[in-house]
Amino acid sequence: MGRPQSRYVCQACGEAFLRWEGQCRGCGAWNSLVETLVREAPAAARARAGAAPGAAAPVPLSSLAQEDVPRLPVGLGELDRVLGGGLVPGSLVLVGGEPGIGKSTLLLQAAAGLAAGGQAVLYATGEESGSQVRLRAGRLGLLAGPAADAVRILAEHDVARIAEAARALRPAAVIVDSIQTATLDELEGPAGSVGQVREAALRLMELAKGEGIAVILVGHVTKEGSLAGPKTLEHLVDAVVSIEGERGGTLRLVRASKNRFGATDEVGVLEMAEAGLREVADPARAFLVEHPVPAAGSVVAATLEGSRALLVEVQALAAPTAYGMPRRTAIGLDPNRLALLVAVLGRRAGIGLGTHDVYANLAGGIAVADPGLDLALAIALASTLRDRPVRPGTLAFGEVGLLGELRSVGGTERRLREAARLGFTRALVPRTRGAAPEVEGLEVVPVATVRDALAVALEAGHGD
Ligand code: TYD
Ligand code: MG
Repeated sequence: MGRPQSRYVCQACGEAFLRWEGQCRGCGAWNSLVETLVREAPAAARARAGAAPGAAAPVPLSSLAQEDVPRLPVGLGELDRVLGGGLVPGSLVLVGGEPGIGKSTLLLQAAAGLAAGGQAVLYATGEESGSQVRLRAGRLGLLAGPAADAVRILAEHDVARIAEAARALRPAAVIVDSIQTATLDELEGPAGSVGQVREAALRLMELAKGEGIAVILVGHVTKEGSLAGPKTLEHLVDAVVSIEGERGGTLRLVRASKNRFGATDEVGVLEMAEAGLREVADPARAFLVEHPVPAAGSVVAATLEGSRALLVEVQALAAPTAYGMPRRTAIGLDPNRLALLVAVLGRRAGIGLGTHDVYANLAGGIAVADPGLDLALAIALASTLRDRPVRPGTLAFGEVGLLGELRSVGGTERRLREAARLGFTRALVPRTRGAAPEVEGLEVVPVATVRDALAVALEAGHGD
């Protein structure tokens, strides 16, 4: 390598240095230097590309052509759904998830799906050797079908060589597994450093936009739940798709937190089986756990994910605090909502949890940010404290306000309909000014406050 082509640029003040230092000498910020490739100025690049400066002239809104975004279906219906109907040629997609959750499996299956549709795919792996990928392909039963020839494996972490192979092969899609192992020769930093990850992604974006090839980047998510290294990748790419689920469990939720070519709130539900990920028969009930006997602290809620209603089980456990500060732990639920509900229950409903440790959880290892879960969580907390289960067949949803009042949430009817379809018989919902929605087979009980809701949900004697 000749002279260094990279600079360490402070993310706080923009000052550039030749070497990495712990503290920026310009502004004094700590750990703010990120290795960055030296690029020619945009004007020079344009001149080289032969485009006239200022070539883009404004056009009236009305004269813009309506573009139909072409889609390449990846074969897995649930993933296509999340992508908005398939992979868009020339788009850059980031697929994130914890190690071992099934990213490589999902993308190898997607590659096979594209191959079945007559498309060629380049699968660049920097994580695993070719033979490891072959092993997985065998397990997925892909060594015989169209994927056997149309999916090309390249064990390579150098982005320049991946791009070169892509330009030669001209596949419909390139999968880079993972962006944390991808490196650029021009940078000194190790694979996975913020600088390497960002520059590698930029280089792959050039490949996507320049050649019209869909590029999928695999990214590992750190324990804290952020896509490791740069948040910057998220605004660079066209879509961010994440895979969630319990590693020990088999269910996987696929969702887009960003999508320039589709809705961001659609989710896909998949199940990890012996031969890869497959669709589940009834996603709406996939996350429900069957209890042999009614369990205190368990309340079912209906939540909305995009156009799909999912039934989820909110679980809570209260145990006397042994010493010191009581703990509040939320998994899959917003910890701030949990703290708020504990306070509201104490002040407005006579449910004192001040000397109890409280744990709250969504069964099935999914995370849902829906204020509609408030009511179910509040009932679950009271249910565990009083050790009194909710009558089977009951569900509840609605937002809880600071005064203990209940507020209705969007898609009430859709949620109720799905619950009725799955055999629920009674639903507690916030009282609204209009008439309560009528859903066949479901007794809809409108309640105005948390206190009222608890009275209905935890009434003594379940025999009625
Ligand atoms: P993998 O796709 O390697 O995860 P990631 O790329 O996100 O790190 O999959 C990891 C797990 O999935 C692994 O523990 C084995 C399991 N698995 C199955 O259960 N069935 C299968 O068909 C395959 C390929 C993997
Ligand atoms: Mg992997």
